Amino acid sequence: MQQNEFITEIQRFKKEKNAVILAHYYVRPEVQDIADYIGDSLGLSHAASKTEADIIVFCGVNFMAETASIISPLKKVLIPDNTAGCSLAESIEPQDIIRWKQNNPDGVVVSYVNTTAEIKAYSDICCTSSNALKIVNSIPAEKKIFFVPDTNLGNYIRIKTGREMDIWDGDCCVHNRFDTKIVLDKSLEYPQADILIHPESKCSSDPVIHSMSNAYFYSTSGMMKHVNSSHKREFIIVTEEGVIHEMKKNNPHKEFILISTKAPCRQMKKVTLEKVLHTLQTEEFEVKVPAELSERAWLPIKRMLEV
Ligand code: 13P
Ligand code: SF4
Repeated sequence: MQQNEFITEIQRFKKEKNAVILAHYYVRPEVQDIADYIGDSLGLSHAASKTEADIIVFCGVNFMAETASIISPLKKVLIPDNTAGCSLAESIEPQDIIRWKQNNPDGVVVSYVNTTAEIKAYSDICCTSSNALKIVNSIPAEKKIFFVPDTNLGNYIRIKTGREMDIWDGDCCVHNRFDTKIVLDKSLEYPQADILIHPESKCSSDPVIHSMSNAYFYSTSGMMKHVNSSHKREFIIVTEEGVIHEMKKNNPHKEFILISTKAPCRQMKKVTLEKVLHTLQTEEFEVKVPAELSERAWLPIKRMLEV
């Protein structure tokens, strides 16, 4: 089948089944192009909570589809490839949180949304990269915090808020490659460019990077807003390559320099048009979080959405 035939069939089944397609900025360009909504983790959570569709086809990795199922338990959530995982989400087990809680019964567990439903169920509040500072600042100063599972995002929050926290030692295998050296080298090549850095990146807590007047820290949708509204012409993009597609579409005359062309998120790239059509046609790969677990995992997400 040709690409345009896949697209026609996807549109047909979408209409027939009253389905909505949500896609993260890191999936393949052709998959982003057939989505009803493209966004970062927070934006996608909001979209999942608001949709009136009967079926959500979640083009992303497992924890994102799980989150959509927790937020919208009455909807059918489908994932085109149910083996699409995340190194960060897989870096921590419930036992790691239970142990910390035993030693810190009054402490607060803040979990990044890149976690499994089990981890969310043991957490007090969730956050995403776009609201993490706000969430941590909303926790009373006397409370001890355990931030899980991303060490780079945790250290970034520690620096920005001045808040001491226990931080789990997990990382994203994509962003953890983006260290200070690679950013400094690229900025020497493009001295006029703004540098947009995802806080999951290894360099995000380095004072050297924080001292650069052209370095900005954003979630993927924050980056999108910056490039759309800036008068600058060049941008060094320190995150997964998928974001460039939408940036170029909205800003054809600006230049986007990827920090690395060798660091795609292989899990996100598992989602293809063929698999989107397959899941719509067959309804194979439903992501359904069991009711009791879903109710517990919903509480920290709800607290996050309220903040
Ligand atoms: P955001 O979508 O919050 O920018 O996070 C990026 C990411 O790594 C998602 O897997
Ligand atoms: Fe997970 Fe990193 Fe891929 Fe995001 S980019 S899904 S954090 S492995």
